[in-house]
Amino acid sequence: MEKISHAASVLRRGGLVAFPTETVYGLGANALDEKAVAKVYEAKGRPSDNPMIVHISRASDIGMLTPTLSPAIVKLADNFWPGPLTIICKKREEVPSIVTGGLDTVAIRLPDSSIAIELIKLSGVPIAGPSANLSGSPSPTKAEHVIADLDGRVDVILKGPDSRIGIESTVVDMTVSPPVVLRPGVLTADILSAAIDEPVELDPALLGRGSSDEAEDSAEIIPKSPGMKYKHYAPTAEMVVVEGQRKRVTEEIKRLKSMNERIGRKVGVILFEEKEYVEAAHDFYARLRELDDEKVDLILAGALSYKDGVGFAVMNRMMKSAGHNVVKV
Ligand code: TXA
Ligand code: MG
Repeated sequence: MEKISHAASVLRRGGLVAFPTETVYGLGANALDEKAVAKVYEAKGRPSDNPMIVHISRASDIGMLTPTLSPAIVKLADNFWPGPLTIICKKREEVPSIVTGGLDTVAIRLPDSSIAIELIKLSGVPIAGPSANLSGSPSPTKAEHVIADLDGRVDVILKGPDSRIGIESTVVDMTVSPPVVLRPGVLTADILSAAIDEPVELDPALLGRGSSDEAEDSAEIIPKSPGMKYKHYAPTAEMVVVEGQRKRVTEEIKRLKSMNERIGRKVGVILFEEKEYVEAAHDFYARLRELDDEKVDLILAGALSYKDGVGFAVMNRMMKSAGHNVVKV
């Protein structure tokens, strides 16, 4: 408690604090303090038109950030907060445009982590918090990941438990009708749709790239969530996703591995148990960092099935990490 309360006072004074959440670690700053928010972009090396999620410590604080609370927004907050859901709402004027990348909407989340909630509550302000990694590198799911990326660049790193979920929150845009999922997560469009009793769509940009067959046709679609356009989550090593029927994927990975090892390349493999999507989400970013630490030259990753919602969310990250470098078998 003493450390959390020290960290909260650092936030209040305009400093930067990395903190654990159930999805990934976040890098926090007072969302109402433009100078503090500017420091977050600097510490992460992040383009300043990429908007941030604003974290709150109780659902009723949502009204501080947005003037428009639809019944559907209230239902989502009631059902899924605290939890891995970020809700895009119309923003209030008080939210500085540096937080929202100039958009007239704001992304809001109440994380399911007692350390995060206590930190936000004690700071007394809403906390802007992107993932606590250097821009472009895999999101941090352990305190060591944050230390590796941000030690010396931020004021405080709160070491907490490893992130329980391991991939970032689902981002749903509630300013459009029907609502649209801009970033997939463990809370799938179907789950959200059931809770608000209306359809929830997937941003076409999510289906447009990757291994689905529509890929080429929809490559032109412009992502609505600015964060989606940057190279993301990438390991240092070259990475290839092998996609197809499970048995063939395993064989192809074996073949590519020995072929590359024969020419002296160090190869790492990411192959999750079939249908163990939750475990895959939990381990994916940590595996990328582990393989980078082992200094592999090439990462071969087995694609997960697209049908399950969580599998889809992990594949979204896997495809981006690999720069959409796919081998189909
Ligand atoms: O799980 C998470 O959401 C973590 C933890 C720390 O809460 N945070 C996180 O933040 O992943 P970040 O900044 O790495 O990702 C925020 C995503 C980006 O893709 C960004 O473009 C999108 O949310 N976003 C933020 N505000 C938006 C807005 N007003 N409209 C559309 N997309 C927005
Ligand atoms: Mg991020």
